[in-house]
Amino acid sequence: MLSNRRREAVGVTTQIEDTELAGFNWDSLGFGLVQTDYMYITKCAQNGTFSEGELQRFGPIELNPSSGVLNYGQGLFEGLKAYRKDGGSILLFRPEENALRMMMGAERMCMPSPTVKQFVNAVKLTVLANKRWVPPTGKGSLYIRPLLMGSGAVLGLAPAPEYTFLIFVSPVGNYFKEGLAPINLIVENDFHRATPGGTGGIKTIGNYASVLKAQSIAKAKGYSDVLYLDSVSKKYLEEVSSCNVFVVKDKVISTPAIKGTILPGITRKSIIDVARSRGFQVEERLVSVDELLDADEVFCTGTAVVVSPVGSITYLGERVEYGNKVGVVSQQLYSALTSLQMGLSDDKMGWTVEL
Ligand code: COI
Repeated sequence: MLSNRRREAVGVTTQIEDTELAGFNWDSLGFGLVQTDYMYITKCAQNGTFSEGELQRFGPIELNPSSGVLNYGQGLFEGLKAYRKDGGSILLFRPEENALRMMMGAERMCMPSPTVKQFVNAVKLTVLANKRWVPPTGKGSLYIRPLLMGSGAVLGLAPAPEYTFLIFVSPVGNYFKEGLAPINLIVENDFHRATPGGTGGIKTIGNYASVLKAQSIAKAKGYSDVLYLDSVSKKYLEEVSSCNVFVVKDKVISTPAIKGTILPGITRKSIIDVARSRGFQVEERLVSVDELLDADEVFCTGTAVVVSPVGSITYLGERVEYGNKVGVVSQQLYSALTSLQMGLSDDKMGWTVEL
């Protein structure tokens, strides 16, 4: 519950619910929007800086039909999670990394961005205002979705004259309907997610709209998601629609190097560090699609998907199977990461922020 002083500080006039936990069937959580109590919002002009924002009741926002985001896709988003620790306190995972990534994306998209401090404070405020929606330990997490968009009106192609920074949250469970069971991917040979010099390396909204077609075709055929290849040689792995990819062979873990077309995932970066700290050799390099053929394990990483084992990959009609159980390495890394995120193990990395 927010203290009265804090409520005044954020200008919340509505009564914040006093219950510790929302009356909700936590066992029913998947990865869909559950409407929570408050969202955070602040605006600024094109060359301005964001003023201290405020919490508002969660709900629709007004947007000019001519806004930059609606007409020209001038928008970015972030994703991070809060976990309820045993004992009741709440842990955020590396929020300053999301702030830095948003700043990097904003620069590419000609948008002003909140400072790291503003971003992290806004995240904390939004999570605390919606504290009763942080699932009980072990039942899921609170997904935090910061948005940055050109909300001002434009008609000719140009950066919008006004920007909105908004954060909403939703309790979530597993991303894939398979839960923690291995997912089945198909390698996409015709559609591409990103091109060199494009925006594949930032979290702009258009990167996600552009994969919907390939993803829906794949889902209609029974696959969980799509694995993209580089658009130049169609030979090297890039990423899955919603997450990064790792290949394990003989205790060496390889993942496509960040080179502008791949999203620099915070879970990706964390898993690399966790794996190295446990003695694995991790290589960031070009990973050829042929390496899938004799890999021991393949797994995906992302804020939403966490660490998701891959059970099979289909490429040009050939299906490679990795087994229908979680691989040893994937399981080890999943457990190490999630126990750190949930406060079940010592945070030697200094990655969690306790609220
Ligand atoms: C995340 O993992 O946070 C993402 O932004 C991916 C999204 C498609 C859910």
